[in-house]
Amino acid sequence: MKITVVGAGYVGLVTAACLAEVGNQVLVVDQDQTRVLLLQAGGVPIYEPGLEECVRRNREAGRLRFAHSMAQGVQQAELLFIAVGTPAAVSEAIASALRRRGRSGSPFAVVSNPEFLKEGAAMEDFTRPDRIVIGLPAGAEGERARLLLTRLYEPFNRHHQRTVWMDVCSAELTKYAANAMLATRISFMNEIAALADRVGADIDSVRRGIGADSRIGHSFLYAGTGYGGSCFPKDIRALVQTAASHGLPMRIASAVEAINTEQKQRLLQLVLELMGPDLSGCRFAVWGLAFKPNTSDMREAPSRSVIAGLLARGAQVCAHDPVALDEARRALQHDLESVQLEPGQLRWCERPEQALQQADALLILTEWKCFQNPDFARLRALLRQPLVLDGRNLYDPQLLEQHGLAYLGIGRRNRLGVARLQQARGKQRQQQGVAALL
Ligand SMILES: NC(=O)c1ccc[n+]([C@@H]2O[C@H](COP(=O)([O-])OP(=O)(O)OC[C@H]3O[C@@H](n4cnc5c(N)ncnc54)[C@H](O)[C@@H]3O)[C@@H](O)[C@H]2O)c1
Repeated sequence: MKITVVGAGYVGLVTAACLAEVGNQVLVVDQDQTRVLLLQAGGVPIYEPGLEECVRRNREAGRLRFAHSMAQGVQQAELLFIAVGTPAAVSEAIASALRRRGRSGSPFAVVSNPEFLKEGAAMEDFTRPDRIVIGLPAGAEGERARLLLTRLYEPFNRHHQRTVWMDVCSAELTKYAANAMLATRISFMNEIAALADRVGADIDSVRRGIGADSRIGHSFLYAGTGYGGSCFPKDIRALVQTAASHGLPMRIASAVEAINTEQKQRLLQLVLELMGPDLSGCRFAVWGLAFKPNTSDMREAPSRSVIAGLLARGAQVCAHDPVALDEARRALQHDLESVQLEPGQLRWCERPEQALQQADALLILTEWKCFQNPDFARLRALLRQPLVLDGRNLYDPQLLEQHGLAYLGIGRRNRLGVARLQQARGKQRQQQGVAALL
């Protein structure tokens, strides 16, 4: 089939590459000329596991092409996918391209086909989806679209039929409701984690205990420094606003967002509880910048607010991420536009150990696999103070303590931990220069 995908971002590129992989002729159109030139030259502007190879393979086979011109995209396509953040603008451009070609009389249908892919596993999600949701308009055009889309998704429906057909409005609400449900699980667990801290329970035990219930399941039950990315925050807000425009308060979704906003500050709060409000002279190592592992995406990443908060209080930050350093540099530059930093106050480190040197604490902000089992003895030796603040509950507290590292996570009896650390710091000050926090 001849397909045009508008938008060469996470969704557009993955969709285009996966559709080209099964033999379709795909043209990707993007308004960003630099991005188009990069793709035409064989580059891929984002990190997504498996994407680069798939793009290369299909580009070389002549099934995947890139262009800047919407007119060209409209001219060649039987099917047009809109994969941008502001679809209304694109539909206007498509309509005017259709008019210019004198094809405004030709039949067309606007279908809702929400994308459920997860960044970091997007290729897998596209090729083996849990379900394909398609919202069709009523009438003959809808039926024509049904035939076209049945054919399009046939290669991904081989095992069993995964397509769920419905009307357009229900398909759109399905997408918002799915993201809101997942975000709700995260905020719920973050709220329970706060209670766990107060009462002395361990959220990880609670997570395993409730996830084992088959009615609940294990996914999206991880307490942490809050969700980010392009989807959850945007879709929760859209849900709340849409409901408000119909005179309906979305009480759960509103609470989910409020909890998440607070949660993004949780690690910073822990730092302040331990070290006081003035952080000048303190240095922090940050491991993980992307909003989640296996992506370079920094949109609404919790690391942004934590780093900005540390810097605003005079701290030095040495930050490392295995993939997202360039994106992070751009994002923080934007966030800190009006902030005057000292030279060297914010450093970007290519290697995780570089960030640790002489740091007063290590902060974990993204649960990249490569952080899971570091050489703890070396880590302790590099840090100025043996303290780990684990925003993703990546580590076993006991194991870290065995390595002489003080540990605080999210919902892991932090109240007790903070009290103990403060006591130890008091002693340390008395004994001057004794670097034993435990
Ligand atoms: N990222 C995800 O995991 C994900 C998952 C499901 C759905 N979505 C939704 O899909 C949409 C796209 O998300 P994304 O993460 O791929 O965004 P993105 O920002 O990574 O990519 C969007 C691309 O579209 C281009 N673009 C924007 N306006 C355009 C226009 N008028 N004409 C041509 N090109 C245009 C931009 O230059 C950019 O390259 C969003 O609505 C998002 O909420 C995203």
